[in-house]
Amino acid sequence: MFKIATTPKMMEDAYNIRKEVFVREQGVPLENEIDEHENIATHVVGYDKKDIPFATGRFRPYKDGVKIERVAIIKTHRNSGLGKLLMSFLEEVAINKNYRNLMLNAQYHARPFYESLGYHTIGEIFLEENIEHIAMIKKI
Ligand code: COA
Ligand code: COA
Repeated sequence: MFKIATTPKMMEDAYNIRKEVFVREQGVPLENEIDEHENIATHVVGYDKKDIPFATGRFRPYKDGVKIERVAIIKTHRNSGLGKLLMSFLEEVAINKNYRNLMLNAQYHARPFYESLGYHTIGEIFLEENIEHIAMIKKI
């Protein structure tokens, strides 16, 4: 179901989900959505039984671990436990690359989602693209 993006087609699937979720749904400007970290990041994509891409996320080396970013499930596929599975897959891939420290800047509304996965908050709430965020970490 979840795969590491290894082809241009898979990267296009990942970007299309991000455009749908972050740009159209959440109003992040398109020019901010694709950034300078895309090439070094490891991207994952989830495909459903009909082979429709429904999930994406990426991580990149950051300090003494990785930073997980752009975690998204398309609207039609939410609240079915797939977000949790996506995060588990991202963590598994990071562990296989010998990383132990995970960090992310969660949108504040999604904090309970990451807490249920063992992340805890550090620091204060901050604004990015007018969306409230909070830093969260997990050691594995
Ligand atoms: N306090 C203040 N500023 C902080 C911070 C903190 N605790 N932690 C990080 N920042 C700053 C840093 O400058 C950080 O850059 P860094 O990667 O060099 O540390 C920057 O905030 C934001 O990092 P990030 O959250 O990765 O966002 P971005 O700059 O790559 O892109 C958006 C900004 C809004 C386009 C991006 O957050 C986005 O697409 N948001 C929607 C998706 C999303 O929320 N993904 C995260 C879910 S896992
Ligand atoms: N606020 C509070 N709790 C949430 C939540 C939210 N926004 N989204 C999910 N949860 C909780 C669920 O209730 C569930 O709890 P449970 O295990 O106790 O039942 C748990 O988190 C797992 O939910 P799941 O069904 O796996 O999540 P999902 O498939 O709906 O995916 C997101 C969660 C956040 C990835 C998805 O809602 C999404 O893509 N949102 C838009 C983009 C976004 O905000 N990304 C996060 C940026 S930090």
